[in-house]
Amino acid sequence: MSRTILILPGDGVGPEVTAQARRVLEWFAESRGLDLALAEAPYGAAAYAAHGAVLAEETLADCLQVDAVLFGATGGPELDAVPAEARRAGSLLRIRREMQTFANLRPIIGYPELADAVPLKRAVIENCDVLLIRELNGGAYFGQPRGIETLEDGRERAVNTNVYDTDEIERIARAAFDLARTRRGRLTSVDKSNVMETGQLWRRVVSRIGTEEYPDIALDHILVDNCAMQLARDPGQFDTMLADNMFGDILSDIGGAISGSLGMLPSASLSAPGADGRRRALYEPVHGSAPDIAGRGIANPVGAILSVALALRHSLDAPDAADLLEGAVRRTLGDGVRTADIRSPNGRAVDTAGMGEAILERLARMAD
Ligand code: IPM
Ligand code: MG
Repeated sequence: MSRTILILPGDGVGPEVTAQARRVLEWFAESRGLDLALAEAPYGAAAYAAHGAVLAEETLADCLQVDAVLFGATGGPELDAVPAEARRAGSLLRIRREMQTFANLRPIIGYPELADAVPLKRAVIENCDVLLIRELNGGAYFGQPRGIETLEDGRERAVNTNVYDTDEIERIARAAFDLARTRRGRLTSVDKSNVMETGQLWRRVVSRIGTEEYPDIALDHILVDNCAMQLARDPGQFDTMLADNMFGDILSDIGGAISGSLGMLPSASLSAPGADGRRRALYEPVHGSAPDIAGRGIANPVGAILSVALALRHSLDAPDAADLLEGAVRRTLGDGVRTADIRSPNGRAVDTAGMGEAILERLARMAD
């Protein structure tokens, strides 16, 4: 059965990195016999300039149909120039919400192969293999009321609402416990229960799900501020982690310091299985559009390529291919192949396409 993948390159460096991710997908189709049907659609500032919409409604409809969406990046000066209304209508947040991809998987891996390029000490990152699960459809990103109002005396007031219902916490908790079961059986749940009611409910519901449904998983809780420090100090102490939308956004960027650069980080966003057992899925590198280097062909495509590995594992029924690809990336880094963001004195400097090429060469050699 053919699996369909829709690529939305988007803004900034998005098209550059998804082009390399696409080559990897094509390699798996041609060399490993995966039955993949790839399609691409315009998204972002370029789509607005060409068609008057950041995200065409038929593209959104396609996102809901395909087996996997591979997303590049959103943002930058061109997008800032698009009227706010049109920007909101086509926003990444809208895609995440319409696809109901509430479970965002953000692996944070320490690569000893990159130790000379990582800002943290080798001993700190060496044993780090964390899977951070971020709630992606609720909390402060979507809570109402929100907005900026002008008060009678002329001052302005900005409001956002952090809100979680029991069922939203339950479903993301179950997703996290299920994933912990496929790993080392430990889950750390992050909250701010010493100050926020959302944190109190979060902790209570996660604890209940753990006790009632996952007695085999070792659950603990950590306050988000301490968590940020512990992630920078000793990330190897964690296995699987669970955080709400905003805390997950913030904490996952620490992964950039652990893995060497934001350009290294992949992500997967999954919905609950539908009636046919299929999950809607959105794969994207964690990095943004990086307008300062866009168009120069020097961005790191590893985050996008590792997002393909996540797609192979979670949507394309090809876990062996995922392992092969992750192994090839690791070996390529071990060979000293480096884009500018992870440069090292003894490394071989490459551009975006050069990194894609090196990973493909490695894949070909490992597959022999
Ligand atoms: C991320 C990004 C997005 C977010 C932005 C681009 C809206 O920072 O995926 O981490 O805040 O979710
Ligand atoms: Mg972020």
